[in-house]
Amino acid sequence: MYIETIALQGFRNYKNAVAEFSDGINVIAGRNAQGKTNLLEALFLLCAGRSFRARSDKELMGFEEDEAKIEARGESAGREKRLKIVLSRGKRRQMLVNSVKQKTVETFAGNFSSVLFCPEDLNLIKGGAAERRRLMDLAICQLRPRYAAALTEFNRAYENKTRILRDWEEKPALLELLDEYDLRLARMSAELIHYRANFVEKLALEAAKIHGEFSGGEELGLTYSTVKTVEDPKGPAEEIFKAVMEHQRQHREAELSSRLCLTGAHKDDIEITVNGRTAKSYASQGQTRTAALSVKLAELEIHRGQLGEYPLLLLDDVLSELDGTRQDFVLNRIGKGQVFITCCEDEKVAGRTGGRVLTVEGGNVFASGQ
Ligand SMILES: Nc1ncnc2c1ncn2[C@@H]1O[C@H](COP(=O)(O)OP(=O)(O)OP(=O)(O)O)[C@@H](O)[C@H]1O
Ligand SMILES: [Mg+2]
Repeated sequence: MYIETIALQGFRNYKNAVAEFSDGINVIAGRNAQGKTNLLEALFLLCAGRSFRARSDKELMGFEEDEAKIEARGESAGREKRLKIVLSRGKRRQMLVNSVKQKTVETFAGNFSSVLFCPEDLNLIKGGAAERRRLMDLAICQLRPRYAAALTEFNRAYENKTRILRDWEEKPALLELLDEYDLRLARMSAELIHYRANFVEKLALEAAKIHGEFSGGEELGLTYSTVKTVEDPKGPAEEIFKAVMEHQRQHREAELSSRLCLTGAHKDDIEITVNGRTAKSYASQGQTRTAALSVKLAELEIHRGQLGEYPLLLLDDVLSELDGTRQDFVLNRIGKGQVFITCCEDEKVAGRTGGRVLTVEGGNVFASGQ
């Protein structure tokens, strides 16, 4: 899967630009505020049908423009594909694949896929557990449609139970519903826990392999952590369900007095270590970046296993804070499919990568030779 050319008209700070890409590594260099991240955003938009940072299509259109066009030609599943998105002020956007209009984002987004790494992803290591649950949820939802359904149902049960625990003193009648929501929450937790444990096991294996090479021998560990009474989170959902119910039973009093939901998959986490020490507390900036990127690259491998080909890898600003050896890994040995790496001009990548170097300046893209 790769994008061969892209044409942007009226998109963000691109008035009218065309770029040709290599099907391997593409380095997108330039000074600040020239359009590097905007170019990645356009590529992501073509894959996912949505932006990773804009809340509305309006933000994507050039300040003075009434229309924005994003067009690309590439190959996926062995076929040539032409993608086109047209955004207009006050009108619904159009999405076309090989000139055929697509009614929904889902049919459009099914053509190309991507894994994105942006500076916020460092929160995977340094941020709270919610960040790591989001990683699991986003990844498994793409891989297993049943997981997405279970997650929706879990969230509904969690909201209801939370409301009961919050309001029961004022409205004691609510307590009649508590058993029902305990059951639902435990059922859905068991489903999520089973999928998450299996996913994290695969992720841990891939991430450790990649991280070893990337860091020159450091050891990355990922361990899934969930409800304490669950002994075998990878085991059958029925056993997990029983264990979650047991934990709920033990914590009934505490839940009522704290008025908080204390048992369930909403407290899951992934413990991440570098050389055996908790990364959240001890990893340096470079180690944090290396670990976060290794996790993302592991995700790429898992997607490849599922899709049969590598998704595009979009890396925004990963080089800063990495030493020469780690930068060389990113510039030359990262990923096996098509890769896009943005970086600052100062990083002087020319001559250090076997990939194609493109320079972005004021919303124009120039090929810098090899
Ligand atoms: N809708 C828009 N219309 C016109 N220009 C925009 C729009 N949205 C953003 N820009 C501008 O595009 C320019 C490039 O933004 P971009 O985020 O791509 O920079 P960058 O090259 O990644 O810079 P940095 O190295 O600082 O990350 C910025 O000056 C930004 O203000
Ligand atoms: Mg940027």
